[in-house]
Amino acid sequence: SARAGESVEVMHWWTSGGETAAVGKFKEALSVRGVEWKDLAVGGADNQRTLLKTRVGKGSPPDAAQINSDVRAYAANPGNLANLNDVAAKGGWDDALPAPVQRYAKLGGKNYVAVPVNVHRNNVMWISAAGLKKIGASAPPKTWDEFFAMAEKARAAGMIPLAMAEDSWVNFMFMQVAYGTMHTDAFRKAFYDADEAALKGPGMVQAFEVMRKARGYSDRGAATRRWNEATQMVIQGKALAQVNGDWVKGEFTLAGKKPNVDYFCIPVPGSGSGHVFSSDAFMFFRNAKSPSAQVALAETLMDKDAQVAFSLIKGSVPVRMDADVSGFDACARQSYADFVAGNKDGTLAAAPSMLQTPARIAAWRDVVLAFWNDDSMTAQQAANRMLAAARAN
Ligand code: BGC
Repeated sequence: SARAGESVEVMHWWTSGGETAAVGKFKEALSVRGVEWKDLAVGGADNQRTLLKTRVGKGSPPDAAQINSDVRAYAANPGNLANLNDVAAKGGWDDALPAPVQRYAKLGGKNYVAVPVNVHRNNVMWISAAGLKKIGASAPPKTWDEFFAMAEKARAAGMIPLAMAEDSWVNFMFMQVAYGTMHTDAFRKAFYDADEAALKGPGMVQAFEVMRKARGYSDRGAATRRWNEATQMVIQGKALAQVNGDWVKGEFTLAGKKPNVDYFCIPVPGSGSGHVFSSDAFMFFRNAKSPSAQVALAETLMDKDAQVAFSLIKGSVPVRMDADVSGFDACARQSYADFVAGNKDGTLAAAPSMLQTPARIAAWRDVVLAFWNDDSMTAQQAANRMLAAARAN
């Protein structure tokens, strides 16, 4: 076990109010084990990735770093990563973690190189209850057509119908819309397997059509806005809705807002009860200054109580399937139920970035943003470009 005075350096991109409060729970739990969590918080996933690459390249990686995409992409060389199989065996991780998360946390499907901490639902629409009231709507929308009808009224009532944020979140929203218009099979074929018919098919075209309309209901300030600033607009009733993952709930919670009272969380229109998930994990690097402190960190991150305390604030649910979510709010319980059901019936969809190469993800993102910024591009042209991007990358 770790000796007093030991520390680990942990790199992550949790810098919003809710995120900072949530990660504080892991810090606390680690300090109980006598180990100090030295924080290296970098705003924005893209920035964190850049810094991590630099540190790995220089041969001075942190002890652990947050990831939520394909682990292979983060290791300049797989030899950089620590093998956590001993801690995992001792802690029974294989029994506690859902299969799709295990695959993602293990390099080559064999060695644990990362510790997953939670499950986030990505395909969520957040809606202001006051905003709905203002436009005389009695319930959140079920379809995009219903949403756009509400958006029209919201605008007439002086609200921004859809609070968008900087580019990466436009692309993020596109994926959630596409899951709804394509449904699980075509979504997986397109984004996991780069299947030709799915990539330029009707579901993809429809996703771009929805995005075109959605853009008309967002505002000019969106391009430089952070995701949590967009959330504040919904919290304050300046905007009617936001499409973003359930980390958004961390901001509502911090502001003292309650689901189904102050706001609604619904699966993005078209998704039914389908669940698109991502899982935050911490990748561990070799040659830690203090191996025993690193083990303490791994155990802390997988600790049931610590995962519960963290997710209650973060907006996610614990990734340990043996955790008790009865004390969680309605949004989280729904996410958990849909995650479990989707895992059983095969409709669960991992965020494509967890499985695809970064080059392909970046190429698709370029298409989505080109379409977003160019009204003259048709939805079918954009879909064709998605296929071309997959072929070239
Ligand atoms: C991460 C979340 C984080 C969000 C916003 C996502 O990529 O999975 O944990 O809260 O980005 O920073």
